[in-house]
Amino acid sequence: MPMEHEQIIVRRGSRSGLPVVLAIHTTAPGQAIGGCRLARYPTWRDGLDDALRLSAAMTAKCAAAGLPHGGAKTVVALPPDAALDHDGRRAVLHDVGDVIADLDGAYATGPDVGTDSADMATIAERTRHVFCLPAEAGGSGDSSPHTAVGVVAALRAVCEAVFGTADLAGRRFAIVGLGRVGGHVARQLSAARAKLVVADVDPAKRVLAEKLGAAWVEPEEALRSDVDVLVPAALGGVLTPAVVGELRCAAIAGPANNQLDAPGTADLLHQRGILWAPDTVVSAGGVIYATGVELRHETPAEATARVRRIGDTLAPILRDAARDGVPRMSG
Ligand code: PHE
Repeated sequence: MPMEHEQIIVRRGSRSGLPVVLAIHTTAPGQAIGGCRLARYPTWRDGLDDALRLSAAMTAKCAAAGLPHGGAKTVVALPPDAALDHDGRRAVLHDVGDVIADLDGAYATGPDVGTDSADMATIAERTRHVFCLPAEAGGSGDSSPHTAVGVVAALRAVCEAVFGTADLAGRRFAIVGLGRVGGHVARQLSAARAKLVVADVDPAKRVLAEKLGAAWVEPEEALRSDVDVLVPAALGGVLTPAVVGELRCAAIAGPANNQLDAPGTADLLHQRGILWAPDTVVSAGGVIYATGVELRHETPAEATARVRRIGDTLAPILRDAARDGVPRMSG
């Protein structure tokens, strides 16, 4: 197989000693963008695999959103038992900043699983190519509420396609993962009077479930619960052939990146008559908002309106897929 990525950097951080992987899928459409993920992996090579997949998904995400950017991703592969204290975190974020600085603007990062706006400010001590700095540092701040706005717009389009109405009131959703994006999706769906089943590996998230009046179950149960729409909002690869065989939802749409364990799993979903909205379209709200406000000088209201248009992007994709009987976007 030819090498698909434009550039892959794997560097042991000089301060932290931790493996920093930066995969640039392409800069052909413009500056490569993609978040910085800080997560535990069995080995750094698993982190490398994840960076390769996630950066390619960012290219698809930017293309689907009509953004003049290529895809990239940074992965800090923490050992399975790692615990980062304050200084350790600063050290590895400075290591990340140095790798980005060496690329001279070919790539800019943003928050992702395991990092937030405050972390972006730490990276920005070493490079200016960082999105989503806190507002007081001149950035557009936390991207997760905006990603959630896009997810809810996508969920409306999915409900319209499957049930003939975009109304969310009384509609049943299972949200797997109440992290930053999943938590905001839960709040927004609850405000729209949807019925929620929610799950997270972190038992502390139960407090939010109770506040929203959502049913709290284990993640394995949430995946298989009898709902209208399943919303994967945690790590990737949850849709395996075994899970697909046990699903009881009519549709799936959520912000988790790379939900399918393998592309062929989309065919299994199709055979079961379950509509799956590509996560590359559903999860683009964060990048649409941050690049709109920070690069294109859109007002927050304009950027939010653009994020909501994810529903308009998704609707014809779902319509064409239903008409042609194909399980997913080609390419
Ligand atoms: N985590 C974001 C994503 O996957 C990354 C990002 C957000 C990059 C905002 C730039 C700006 O889309």
